[in-house]
Amino acid sequence: MLFGHDKVEILHLPTPLEHLANVSDDLGINVYCKRDDLTNLATGGNKLRKLEYFLKDAQDKGATMLITEGGAQTNHGRLTAAVAAKYGLKCAIVTADEFPGEISANLLLDGMLGCPVYFVKDMETGRQAVIDKYTSEGEKVYYVPMGGSNEIGMLGYVECAMELDKQAREMGIGDASIYVTVGSMGTYLGMLVGLKECKSDLKLVGINVLPYSDDAADEEANTAALLEALCEYYKKACDFFGSYSDNWGITADDFDIVTHYIHGAYNNAVEEVRDVMYYLARKEAIIIDPCYTGKTFEALYDKARKGDIEKGSNVIFMHTGGLPGIYTKHHRVELERELMPFMHADEF
Ligand SMILES: Cc1ncc(COP(=O)(O)O)c(C=O)c1O
Repeated sequence: MLFGHDKVEILHLPTPLEHLANVSDDLGINVYCKRDDLTNLATGGNKLRKLEYFLKDAQDKGATMLITEGGAQTNHGRLTAAVAAKYGLKCAIVTADEFPGEISANLLLDGMLGCPVYFVKDMETGRQAVIDKYTSEGEKVYYVPMGGSNEIGMLGYVECAMELDKQAREMGIGDASIYVTVGSMGTYLGMLVGLKECKSDLKLVGINVLPYSDDAADEEANTAALLEALCEYYKKACDFFGSYSDNWGITADDFDIVTHYIHGAYNNAVEEVRDVMYYLARKEAIIIDPCYTGKTFEALYDKARKGDIEKGSNVIFMHTGGLPGIYTKHHRVELERELMPFMHADEF
């Protein structure tokens, strides 16, 4: 029970906290990786922790179906479909993106999991039309918000932060800085609340991967817009959890966020991001994704290289999953082009 809410135990927790010896030697800082990419359904990822709480809420409300939304390549949609499949619920994903012309990456897995994906012209009307369709067919629909980021969803990362604090203290790195991706914010805000709740000495740095302002290239505007969105989300959480929030005392000053690594758009193909994807694969055999974790690791790498992270200090990279993203067409073509020299056909 966490702040009055229960969950269904889907995952084998805790996920490992691993020391990355080769990267640490190379960068001169002690780098650890929290392996939430190793969560155990449908290639894993951060959304599964949120879905433990959503599933319980859905079951309590007598739901027969989960409906969620996101980009065409939503990792959250794929993992919602995975949980639905495993726990005997129907599922559908709604996206306002266009059909990309091929069924690859998360879309391929959505289909394998038996989950229809609706490509709609307008999210508001499209989402309602899909909900109405299934309701009229007798389903009791439970709607999971985009990215699983509401008060219920963030509980998964409150719990993760407490789990990580315990692991970090046991490993003698209770003062580390955690680098975590900020997308729809639930992971970051949940972790910040969790760290406050257990009075942790861990610090949290959020690396934003999608622009919150209208001008994607304007770093200052993105930072201001994200701060505002985080304050609003936090206020909602305090209202929702009532007296449980008395311990938190979070103010705008607590939000340590970086919008420098968005590279102008969400889920775009970025050479610097692919470079660190290759780096981490070749140093530690850990695969990160081009949309989320790649940008976050790029921030960690870049800051370490520039001396913005003190030599010898402890840093935890939150690996939140996203593996299928490497098979998305616009990323895959760039990866294939750059990796072609590794293919030796007709040489011997
Ligand atoms: C792989 C991966 N990492 C990080 C995130 C960001 O998490 P949040 O949306 O809770 O900010 C997402 C969200 O979709 C994701 O799929």
